Amino acid sequence: MSRTLVRGGTVVTATGRARADVLAVDGTIVALGRDLDVDADRVLDAGGQLVIPGGVDPHAHVRITFDGVPGADDFASATTAAAHGGTTTLMDFCFQEHGQPLPEALAAWRAALAETPPVTDVGVHMTVTDLEDPRREQELRAMPAQGVTSFKLFLAYPGTYMVDDATVWRTMRAAERTGALVMVHAENGPAIAALIAEAVAAGRTGPEVHPTTRPPATEAEAVNRAVTLAELTGARTYVVHVSCGAALAPIVAAKARGIDVWAETCPQYLLLDDSIYARPGVEAAKGIFSPPARPAGEQERLWQALAGAGLDVVSTDHSPFALAERERRAAEGFARIPNGAPGLEERLELVHETGVRTGRLTLEQWVDRCCTTPARLFGLGARKGAVAVGADADLVLWDPERTRTIRAAEQHSRVGYSVHEGRTVRGGPSAVLVDGQPLVVDGELVDRPRRGFLHRAPVHGRQRQAPGPGGGAPGSRGARPATHEEQP
Ligand code: URP
Ligand code: ZN
Ligand code: ZN
Repeated sequence: MSRTLVRGGTVVTATGRARADVLAVDGTIVALGRDLDVDADRVLDAGGQLVIPGGVDPHAHVRITFDGVPGADDFASATTAAAHGGTTTLMDFCFQEHGQPLPEALAAWRAALAETPPVTDVGVHMTVTDLEDPRREQELRAMPAQGVTSFKLFLAYPGTYMVDDATVWRTMRAAERTGALVMVHAENGPAIAALIAEAVAAGRTGPEVHPTTRPPATEAEAVNRAVTLAELTGARTYVVHVSCGAALAPIVAAKARGIDVWAETCPQYLLLDDSIYARPGVEAAKGIFSPPARPAGEQERLWQALAGAGLDVVSTDHSPFALAERERRAAEGFARIPNGAPGLEERLELVHETGVRTGRLTLEQWVDRCCTTPARLFGLGARKGAVAVGADADLVLWDPERTRTIRAAEQHSRVGYSVHEGRTVRGGPSAVLVDGQPLVVDGELVDRPRRGFLHRAPVHGRQRQAPGPGGGAPGSRGARPATHEEQP
């Protein structure tokens, strides 16, 4: 039996903060309280620090290929990067090839996970590309029982990932019946493809053209379509990487109508504007992610929605396409550069620095948007994203004074660059525990556990929307406990 005591910190949850010790036995939190008088094998002094739940990143690409370019990370490197930043649970995507049986796609994903075992828990979403054969729909409905309780759909990237509205409909129906969540990349793929073709035909191929081919209306139209189909099918739906006010509007309206719609944004949309495309050389190519960075002013609208109504989660959309590959492709024009930006390691620090320290978010909202709500929405509410008796002892000791400057060269992803290079952040993790065991201490990986696939639970019935400014979203409705498998 292993007993870990975290003593003297201020525990921050989605709903409040209090001075409390935390006792974990065999990986589970068993007691919380002031000055606990208990024996422990390991005592960590959290005096002067915050104690928060390990971060939960529900949108991080590890196993991804974009236009033939494979991501540079594997599960070991990605989770090591995440852990250094205080994220102890992440969710990757399993991509169905056209026509591929879904169990076969999942088996391949699980084999890759076993090959490079992660140091933190990793769950997976099933990315649907083709339900033409009726057997695929049956296979999709069987996914939640296998711990895969979210389905991903792309309304962008025609010819590769994009699905038509009939496939959206069938996927949403399957989700509604089985308690799965439907994640939607909402951009109008055909309109964007036409805009790209026009630009390329006119010889406009620099990275500065990228945002002009994906204007806010292409995002807003697709969000509107997604939430309309969510309303018609009754599927719990989650819009990924919302980038601007125009895309927020249909989400806010749907929430107000009581539709079970949720949404995330990412640090690149909160912190970067479209001036990135005016930077010289490869610096502009670093901004080729989709949707693109938006004009100055849009970022503040996202912050307001994150603090109030509209946005529920901050994920990273970590997309590990190595800088060298981006540079090589940039020579062929912006349309050839793999879309995406890295960000797994600095999510909690960036939101703390630019959200909490600026007064845009409370500490509780920071914990809620980065840990608690993602756990709850994705079927992990009973175990993750909470400092509570019965939850997994995935804990972060957060030193509010720890200061560092983000440098890609010091990071643990293999991607080799950061869109936040040179930004100084105050506040960071001094220790990160998984199942009560220290994993990262003072920036050093001190253990190399071989963790496995995180089973998640379906969520039946409506989840309550966050009540608004200052409010958290505690608890989970109908979620059965999640489990993870250790690697042998
Ligand atoms: O540009 C992006 N976001 N690339 C990663 C894949 C996706 O669209 O989420
Ligand atoms: Zn996307
Ligand atoms: Zn993504």
